[in-house]
Amino acid sequence: MEKQKRLHIITYGCQMNVHDSEKIAGLLQPEYELTQNLEEADFILLNTCSVREKAEHKLYSKLGQLKSLKARNPDLIIGVCGCVAQQEGENILKRAFHVDLVFGTNTIPKLPQLLEELQHSRKDSGRPARVVDLSNMDWQEPEANVVRENRFKAYITIMRGCDKFCTFCVVPFTRGREESRPSKDILREAQLLADRGVIEIMLLGQNVTSYGKRVISHGERIRDDLSFPELLAALNEVKGLQRIRYTTPHPRDLSQELIAAIRDLPKVCEHIHLPVQAGSSKVLKDMNRKYTKEQYLEKIQQLKQEVPNISITTDIIVGFPGETEEDFQDTLDVMEKVQYDGCFAFKYSDRPYTKSPELPNPVPEEVKEARLQRVLDLQRKISLEKNKSLLGQIQEVLVDELNSKFPGKVTGRTRTNHIVTLPGGPELLGRLVNVEITEAYPYRLAGRLISSEVGSRV
Ligand code: 5AD
Ligand code: SF4
Repeated sequence: MEKQKRLHIITYGCQMNVHDSEKIAGLLQPEYELTQNLEEADFILLNTCSVREKAEHKLYSKLGQLKSLKARNPDLIIGVCGCVAQQEGENILKRAFHVDLVFGTNTIPKLPQLLEELQHSRKDSGRPARVVDLSNMDWQEPEANVVRENRFKAYITIMRGCDKFCTFCVVPFTRGREESRPSKDILREAQLLADRGVIEIMLLGQNVTSYGKRVISHGERIRDDLSFPELLAALNEVKGLQRIRYTTPHPRDLSQELIAAIRDLPKVCEHIHLPVQAGSSKVLKDMNRKYTKEQYLEKIQQLKQEVPNISITTDIIVGFPGETEEDFQDTLDVMEKVQYDGCFAFKYSDRPYTKSPELPNPVPEEVKEARLQRVLDLQRKISLEKNKSLLGQIQEVLVDELNSKFPGKVTGRTRTNHIVTLPGGPELLGRLVNVEITEAYPYRLAGRLISSEVGSRV
């Protein structure tokens, strides 16, 4: 019998990439089994991200570390996929001689075939072949054959690509045009997952609020589908599911219908990640975000009015070209007004193909750094205050992992996506429990178990 081959995947970047890695692991089974151990892998795959500069540096430094493994084991296959692969293609082979295979974000279904080609050509010519394939394939999302790490929470892709062309963002170039997946396929996958014990789903798309417009089934464009709020309503009926999350909505397309869906549908969680990017209307215009500071704040106001306990998180870029101190004050002002529960803040970096590098008045590195610190300091203060307001409250928590730092404790998330640790063991995994919040820190809560099973929502 042939020896079982082993695959090690290193994933960078967003949930989309994490889920692509899960699909890749499924696609290569049973020929390859996943391994956590780099040393025993026959195939090491780096699933890359290029949304910010640092992510690319990470790829090349990781590739550097893999050189010695390849020197020891010439049969080892090293592959690169994801957004940097799509963006750099051939250049990766030029820069890293030990890479065998580069494939694009929409070439994933071809991977088994590419591996076969690679191995055949090696056998035939005796010298290591190298393959680059960035072809844009039509592909159906796999429904059953996905290797998911968590048994209780699952990602579901509802759309791919992005048409918004924010001037700083490389995603429309690395992930292509927006395409929605037919709702009946999404509903079937959700039901399948629920039947296997999944409690929480996270719907994935670069712009979930545009869902339903360019629907592609088996490579053909079909008629428009449900709107995003209608899709949420349909998913709310899936038996066995308890929680529905989604990422990422675009503030411009946040409709009254979506706000009503969050308010009315019991399974849709009271959390929204609504990237503001910047507070100044001038900067937002230069970013091509298509909303002003006032319009964004108006939507937040409506959300808070309709869903009073909603938690709101965001993404912020500091030091976008032309951002003055006054513009930056608008970002801090939005943070004060919204009182975000959490925020991911980034220093602006030029990305290939994008428009923003051509804008005048780039912001010096030290100014970006100082602004980033000010955002982080303010957010820390706001998060701590908000978390303290939860002290003494009873929150529903889905326990999803054993706490690796504190033995005898488990970790989970509230419906509002706050992280909570509590005393407990494996018996609590995958359970929805009621927890009294007893401690508040800036980035997490701690509590104690009140009741160990919460009733079903529908
Ligand atoms: N520079 C800095 N941050 C960026 N992001 C996207 N592109 C850039 C860039 N060029 C951030 C945005 C986005 C998040 C995923 O990454 O805030 O919402
Ligand atoms: Fe990038 Fe803007 Fe599309 Fe988000 S909406 S993926 S920031 S272009």
